[in-house]
Amino acid sequence: MEYILKIVLLGDAGVGKTSLVYRFIENRFSTDFKSTLGVNLLKRTIEIDGNQVTTQIWDLGGQEAYKKLRKLYLEGASGALVVYDVTSESSFQNLNEWINSFKETRTECPIVLIGNKTDLSQLRKVTQDQAKTYAKEKNILDFIETSAKTGENVEVAFKNLIRKAMLKGS
Ligand code: GTP
Repeated sequence: MEYILKIVLLGDAGVGKTSLVYRFIENRFSTDFKSTLGVNLLKRTIEIDGNQVTTQIWDLGGQEAYKKLRKLYLEGASGALVVYDVTSESSFQNLNEWINSFKETRTECPIVLIGNKTDLSQLRKVTQDQAKTYAKEKNILDFIETSAKTGENVEVAFKNLIRKAMLKGS
């Protein structure tokens, strides 16, 4: 079967959304990204369990200025990667806002919670246990820690979400 899925990334400015997408699409990392202006739209076709899956990945700038675009951005989404930065307490505290706005518009769609920047272990502020407890509270079954810099778990996180979104769409 062929699938076309729209995947969105949500989370505060600077948590690494663009870097995660770049790692997933190009398998590379760059420190040169400017804060995303508006929306980046990227595409990757992958084979999952014998199915051709075209994923459109929408990466909206996390700045407040783009708040008005959010509804439009979420329209038709099959799933979301909600990202915080493990070295930033505030990005973790703001997760509620991102998750709630996604759930409001896309009630039944899967979410994968991502704690990014695990390579900065000495600067870590949010523990795995804190995040696990939070995910449970919010009824999110998938939580994974990643590093867009080293590539750790990035492919796994995207594929996890894509699989869930495929199941829901079939
Ligand atoms: P907005 O576009 O403003 O919403 O930001 P964003 O969430 O897309 O963040 P972006 O990918 O632009 O990354 C912000 C900064 O964090 C950049 O300097 C990245 O190089 C850095 N960064 C992203 N991911 C990682 C990571 O896993 N480890 C480390 N050490 N730095 C990272």
